Amino acid sequence: MVDVVVDPEFYYRVRKYEQETDRYKEYRRRWNDNPKNNVVESFPIHLDIEVTNACNYKCYMCFQAFDPPKYGFMDFDLFKKMIDEGEKHGLCSIKLLFRGEPLLHKDIVKMVAYAKQHGVIEVAFNTNASLLTESRAREFIEAGLDKIVCSVDGCTKEVYERIRIGGNFDVVLGNIKRLQEFKKEMGVSHPIVRVQMVDTPKNHHQIPEYIEFWGKIADQVATEALYEWEHMAEDPSVSKEFCCAQLWQRLMILWNGDVVLCCGDNRGRLRVGNVMKDNLADIWQSERLKVYRGLHLKGESHKMEICRRCGLRKSYIVKKSAELQGQTVTIMPSGDASAATLQIKS
Ligand SMILES: C[S@@+](CC[C@H](N)C(=O)[O-])C[C@H]1O[C@@H](n2cnc3c(N)ncnc32)[C@H](O)[C@@H]1O
Ligand code: SF4
Repeated sequence: MVDVVVDPEFYYRVRKYEQETDRYKEYRRRWNDNPKNNVVESFPIHLDIEVTNACNYKCYMCFQAFDPPKYGFMDFDLFKKMIDEGEKHGLCSIKLLFRGEPLLHKDIVKMVAYAKQHGVIEVAFNTNASLLTESRAREFIEAGLDKIVCSVDGCTKEVYERIRIGGNFDVVLGNIKRLQEFKKEMGVSHPIVRVQMVDTPKNHHQIPEYIEFWGKIADQVATEALYEWEHMAEDPSVSKEFCCAQLWQRLMILWNGDVVLCCGDNRGRLRVGNVMKDNLADIWQSERLKVYRGLHLKGESHKMEICRRCGLRKSYIVKKSAELQGQTVTIMPSGDASAATLQIKS
């Protein structure tokens, strides 16, 4: 029997929480139950849409600093095609990022507005917040953006700028404060503003001060574990219990329309289609995905190269081995679409 404890410090401070409409609750139920019950619906519950892989920063822990990709931007018509298809199938949520900085896309506000007008319950993205200008802050509120995760790896200029190379702490602080002021002025609670840092050796010592500082400004403050991008060495260990929930929840679409299984595929190695020519519903229900799900259900995720390189799988295996030694297993809560989702089977 595994003693699983949800890390109580993941969300250090939560002032507001997600919307609690019946439709939202039903979406979260399917999110949690579909993987457990092997329910494959006609369409993914969530889409991760990389609007661009370009970035204006070179954060030291990010692959943009040591192996930047060839940059590109998603066409608005391609984005629209996916949302239109999703609307027919009751698409619940989208995140508008993967490898780049979403605010570099000229149509980002238009994309948020289009998705909200076409029934997507939760629209969110992570950003370095450097380009969250006054006009854009207002436009995002008006467009109905639900959540913005601001990646800010420190609470002082010195620490922040040592990690977020190319960034300016004062600009980012000003942008986030202004967004919060506009929400107050306009009498709205969206977008939920989460400020989040990647816990690295360069900022770990700041955590208590960080929570105190950002807790006064943001709606949520969180830390995220440092991971290695896809460059991580393969882990061929066999874990019979590991079964990745994401195969029953979501798909990832790169800026050029290539569809990959998840955010573990940083280089787009395992392409399962392209939305310029394929329907997402067909990809989602394809024989190929059926085979991948089958491998996971049989405890054979190690047969897939991207899974052998996955940090989520690796941390599961590490935790399992800790369990065998009688230690307590601690996991992050998997409350939102962005958080890693571990299925612990006891
Ligand atoms: C690749 S960034 C893209 C979005 C945007 N540019 C940003 O910084 O938020 C997505 C998320 O990955 C996080 N990130 C980058 N490198 C990481 C690493 N090595 N380990 C964990 N998270 C990382 C960032 O802090 C950010 O929250
Ligand atoms: S801002 Fe985001 S995408 Fe750009 S280098 Fe930093 S973590 Fe990577």
